Amino acid sequence: MGAVADPGAAGALAFRERPALALVDLGLPEGMEAAVEIMRRSPRTAVIATCAAEECPKLYDTVRQAMRAGLRDLVPKPFTLAEFERVLRRHATPSPVVAVPDAPKAGHLICVFSTKGGVGKTTLAANLAVALARRDRRRVALLDLDLECGNAAALFGRHSPHASIVDLCRRTEGIGAEALSQTVERLDCSVDLLAAPPGPEQAALVVGEARSEPRDYVGEILASARVAYPWVLVDTACTFGAATLAALDAADTVLLLTTPDMLALRNTARGLDVLLRDLEFPEGKVQLVLNRCNSAVGITHANIQRGLNFPVSFSLPSDAVTVISAANTGVPFMLKGLERNLLTQRVTEIAARLDGIQRADTPQAASPLPARRRKAWRAEPFFRR
Ligand SMILES: Nc1ncnc2c1ncn2[C@@H]1O[C@H](COP(=O)(O)OP(=O)(O)OP(=O)(O)O)[C@@H](O)[C@H]1O
Ligand SMILES: [Mg+2]
Repeated sequence: MGAVADPGAAGALAFRERPALALVDLGLPEGMEAAVEIMRRSPRTAVIATCAAEECPKLYDTVRQAMRAGLRDLVPKPFTLAEFERVLRRHATPSPVVAVPDAPKAGHLICVFSTKGGVGKTTLAANLAVALARRDRRRVALLDLDLECGNAAALFGRHSPHASIVDLCRRTEGIGAEALSQTVERLDCSVDLLAAPPGPEQAALVVGEARSEPRDYVGEILASARVAYPWVLVDTACTFGAATLAALDAADTVLLLTTPDMLALRNTARGLDVLLRDLEFPEGKVQLVLNRCNSAVGITHANIQRGLNFPVSFSLPSDAVTVISAANTGVPFMLKGLERNLLTQRVTEIAARLDGIQRADTPQAASPLPARRRKAWRAEPFFRR
């Protein structure tokens, strides 16, 4: 499609053309910068590097750095045409979850995401999993893809799960539904929980340079979970890392959490830009959830919708006593029989709405707002009376 010789041009071309694959020579002085720029401007592009050991004195460090930034593969020079073709084909084949148009209709995948940490993703993912399992009367999956600091298991009192996602990634054969069912924690509340790695250093075994093979483990896990469960809830970290991007791509619905504070809202505006403009998600795929909505901090619900130019689909009240005591006892608040509690009621409503969306099979926005214009960030609309 095109060849470029400087990082800025590489990023611009990747942004414009959104190629499936980009090849970068890490032996060139600006090769690394070009690779990073392409991954930043076009997160779905699979960047593949080539390099000769003698051209790159710090080859190991360079590759590590590139892997951390999201490099998909490396073809060391010299290579044969057959080797090169094998790598290209592996990465040019779209993941079955994302791109096979006639894949059998499987479970509904909900990615709980935010671009600011600590806004309530794990709390919502865990409690929503409980609400959906209760509503559907079938087991649902909760996958903890916060690979460095995931703690969904702890909200269910499982501080040392018997296995984690890392055990799945050690398998040499494919990750099917059976392997998944052996690895999850089967909780009494009909939630099957795939725990995050036990420590941050093990995240690289799932998506980073420590993988035994350059396989798309996360894609395989998501695909298997969708086949095995009617609902798959994915808890994520608040960055656009490889695992989060895979879950966002595969999701039917993204629940984007925010809170009424300026720092969270700034990041939410940036996150919406990436989801809608860069990743080109249809607007109905993204449902904005305003957590701690009743905190009297000077930014109203209406101002948030106006400032983000995006509708708030769901609001959850602030209720530290309920949320924190549930976490401290290892029992999600949805299991505490608090039917009159507003937070419990709101989570039940979200489960009902998601169920409705899934049955209709057509994502829908919450309320009619004017056609969206993405615009440069300004704080002023959040405070306008
Ligand atoms: N509605 C709420 N009312 C009061 N406290 C809440 C509410 N939702 C979440 N919290 C509290 O906010 C903190 C962060 O919640 P949580 O861990 O679920 O967020 P997170 O987005 O998953 O964070 P991280 O980005 O670190 O993964 C926790 O102490 C939790 O108890
Ligand atoms: Mg979390």
